[in-house]
Amino acid sequence: MKERYIGLMSGTSMDGIDAVLVMIDGDELRVEAALCHPWPADMAYALHALCTPGDNEIDRLGVADRQVAQEFATATQALLAKAGLTPAAIRAIGSHGQTIRHRPQLRFTLQIGNAALLAALTGIDVIADFRTMDMALGGQGAPLVPAFHQALFAKPGALRVVLNLGGIANISVLPGNAGGVYGFDTGPANTLLDGWYRRHQPDGCNYDAGGQWAASGRLIPTLLEKLLAHPYFAAPWPKSTGREMFTLDWLDGELAGSAYAPVDVQRTLQALTCHSIARQLPALDEAQSRPELYVCGGGAHNAPLLSELASLLPTWRIASTFDLGLAPDWVEGAAFAWLAQRFIHRKPGNLPAVTGASRLAVLGALYPA
Ligand SMILES: Nc1ncnc2c1ncn2[C@@H]1O[C@H](COP(=O)(O)OP(=O)(O)O)[C@@H](O)[C@H]1O
Ligand SMILES: [Mg+2]
Repeated sequence: MKERYIGLMSGTSMDGIDAVLVMIDGDELRVEAALCHPWPADMAYALHALCTPGDNEIDRLGVADRQVAQEFATATQALLAKAGLTPAAIRAIGSHGQTIRHRPQLRFTLQIGNAALLAALTGIDVIADFRTMDMALGGQGAPLVPAFHQALFAKPGALRVVLNLGGIANISVLPGNAGGVYGFDTGPANTLLDGWYRRHQPDGCNYDAGGQWAASGRLIPTLLEKLLAHPYFAAPWPKSTGREMFTLDWLDGELAGSAYAPVDVQRTLQALTCHSIARQLPALDEAQSRPELYVCGGGAHNAPLLSELASLLPTWRIASTFDLGLAPDWVEGAAFAWLAQRFIHRKPGNLPAVTGASRLAVLGALYPA
């Protein structure tokens, strides 16, 4: 059966809302239209602020909850216009919402973006709240994308890893047999790079385009080793993290008493991303044919970062998900469209081996339009 779904996703980077319209036909998924709708500057600020404990959070959360839904609706309407479709053509929206707190240790995770309002504004059924059922079953509620990666990208007999370089980096390990899939967040991808760039290069750009500033710095090996000593990197999976753990406050603590040039710190943060990922990839046995690493997320546009990663992984074939037929910018959004389709057909969306949940479960809640 052919059905169209829209996936709406805004990740930890808060660069914008990814809106992805897909056609799903059996096991096939094709992106028909996609766009990134940037957050209005004042909202990005308010959302960043909500990610850190502070005053009067409940009122601020309530206001932001509605505003996020309004922006998600605007992104949806722009996407429909781009595709030349009406709401009636869409079976459902899968809305991830915006995470403002992810605390698996405390057994809660919070995404906002009022799904009832989104359904009312778009006239399309909305599936939202994808993470809480997995958490109710003892899981981390994250990452949810490995099931999607497995369904679309796995190849029998081949070891493939999908690496998403968003604010946080996550990997899905697809060993070529469905039972063996696992995945977890490896730690920061861009969150520290973005934060440090914004603090020291106040040019109005939210990130180091093309990784050029980092590339002009020099690696500080002692700082790199200090940062890599963070216990998260050595912890076994299942594990997931958010921007709460890898903050500029944490970095400032590690830098205390030093006088490094900011550009050299940026270069070292790039190395932190690359080394922490490389260390957590599966160990290879001699007999293995060449393993494949497919990169997606905004970090796929950072050439110096990718070449540093490649230098650490000489035995791997590294490419972007373009080579698998899905543009790197739209993988996460397409995953939430796919999860909406799983919900509509009451199929499980989680992989217990990935999240640590006690069993498979249908993920999400329906807000009929
Ligand atoms: N041209 C580029 N050069 C370097 N980094 C980029 C570029 N485009 C995007 N990025 C990085 O990717 C991030 C956004 O990635 P994204 O996959 O959208 O993450 P999230 O899922 O957290 O929103 C940006 O904040 C930035 O760090
Ligand atoms: Mg994004």
